[in-house]
Amino acid sequence: MMIKEAIYIKSLTDVKDQPERLPQALLLGRSNVGKSSFINSLTHRKNLARVSKTPGKTLLLNFYLINQSFYLVDAPGYGYARRSKSTKDDFIIMIESYLLNNTDLKFVGLLIDFKVGPTKDDLATYHFLRELGLDIIIIATKKDKIPKTKQFKQEKLIKSMMGNPETLISISNVTKENMEKVERLFLEKLMEENVDA
Ligand code: GTP
Ligand code: MG
Repeated sequence: MMIKEAIYIKSLTDVKDQPERLPQALLLGRSNVGKSSFINSLTHRKNLARVSKTPGKTLLLNFYLINQSFYLVDAPGYGYARRSKSTKDDFIIMIESYLLNNTDLKFVGLLIDFKVGPTKDDLATYHFLRELGLDIIIIATKKDKIPKTKQFKQEKLIKSMMGNPETLISISNVTKENMEKVERLFLEKLMEENVDA
């Protein structure tokens, strides 16, 4: 099985405005980590999610319907330095209200930069998500930016900085390395029979 169809459904600022109920996966990561590129790689599309060089300021959750079966939810990037203090707070409030009592949420994909490694914001977000008891898949992007001979060591370093997490996959949106592996994992987790009635 693979991702065959991906449709942009809507963007919302208020979690109350969510579309029809289906399993969801939330993608989180700081600005410029490659979230939009990752959505495009995962869905085999060039322009489904906007890839920008100017980090976003809009607090929107973007819903993409995949294979008529589940949603990928793209959140705005966190840790954008030029965002005002009050906007930062709004971001946290929005994500928290989305995460709390969301029985459709199957897991969170936390994107970090393979070359940069986990930042302070990444680690704080990771611990916050763990405290909520969420299933987390860590996706390290931009693997192609590190020479092949140094990739193993870099992955080991990232893992140790994050306390050796259960699931960490390093990918590249340029070479598409490991994207099949990620796609399989996402489909497994999102197409599982929904046991909670
Ligand atoms: P915001 O929407 O601003 O939060 O950013 P984003 O996380 O959606 O990042 P986006 O996908 O827009 O990518 C940011 C920049 O990184 C773009 O210039 C991409 O082309 C580049 N980029 C994304 N993924 C990769 C990757 O795997 N390798 C390399 N070399 N560049 C990448
Ligand atoms: Mg983006």
